[in-house]
Amino acid sequence: MAPLLQIFILSLLVSLIYCADPITKSCSQSYTGSGIETNINQVLSDLVTKASVGGFAVSSYGKGNNMIYGLAQCRGDVSSGDCSSCLADAAKALPVVCPKQTDARVWYDYCFMRYDTDNFIGQADTSSPVILYNVNNATDPDAFDKAVSKLMNKVNSEAVSAGNGLLGREKTKFTQYITIYALAQCTRDLQPLQCAQCLSSTLQYFPVYCSHRQGCRVLYTSCMVRYEIYPFYFPLDSKAKNPGAAKYATTIVHPH
Ligand SMILES: *[C@@H]1O[C@H](CO)[C@@H](O)[C@H](O)[C@H]1NC(C)=O
Repeated sequence: MAPLLQIFILSLLVSLIYCADPITKSCSQSYTGSGIETNINQVLSDLVTKASVGGFAVSSYGKGNNMIYGLAQCRGDVSSGDCSSCLADAAKALPVVCPKQTDARVWYDYCFMRYDTDNFIGQADTSSPVILYNVNNATDPDAFDKAVSKLMNKVNSEAVSAGNGLLGREKTKFTQYITIYALAQCTRDLQPLQCAQCLSSTLQYFPVYCSHRQGCRVLYTSCMVRYEIYPFYFPLDSKAKNPGAAKYATTIVHPH
């Protein structure tokens, strides 16, 4: 075989088996036996198919104690192409990062996927948030924190306003050169009031983990908020300059 063709086939194979790593995961409750596994696989493939259309789906499969409930959602601003490839990655990753677990969740930039033997659909889950903050601090940090706080209130109320599909995106000019971008989103199985409570509950972590930080996210299972000083939500703000790679630290806050 010609070397170029071999390289081509090899790179094709690598891209087929490559599966992006999630930002974070949560796994609990081991199981044994194969009945559950079959139901998990069924739910995962159902979620990929259904959520690729419209960016959100719930699914369930099985009977009795082996029943599996699933939910998948893409960030509301990403394209359907980015959404479906993220969902495919998530479905591939879940059984690998949470092997033989009955409660498994993975978070990506562009999507979230979860399954459980308990029926969690419609219930807000604000246990164990994952927090990612930029290790760099803003200049004029006190004024920056005030601007962030104002922006988070705005983006959170936008998310729960009628017609926004539980997604909020907002930006604010902090200085002539610095714009702060923010996004808030809940899973679409929640009612607006549950969403508002979930988003407002993220704010308690801001003074502890996000204070002065150039960027920060609080990821719950049922909702998430994020701000950055570079454009990260779509449509991308094309006027802004690329900030280079930001460095983040991750903390998982466990319930007391
Ligand atoms: C950034 O600010 C935080 C909170 O005030 C502080 O703990 C941390 O040391 C600062 N980091 C840097 C790199 O200045």
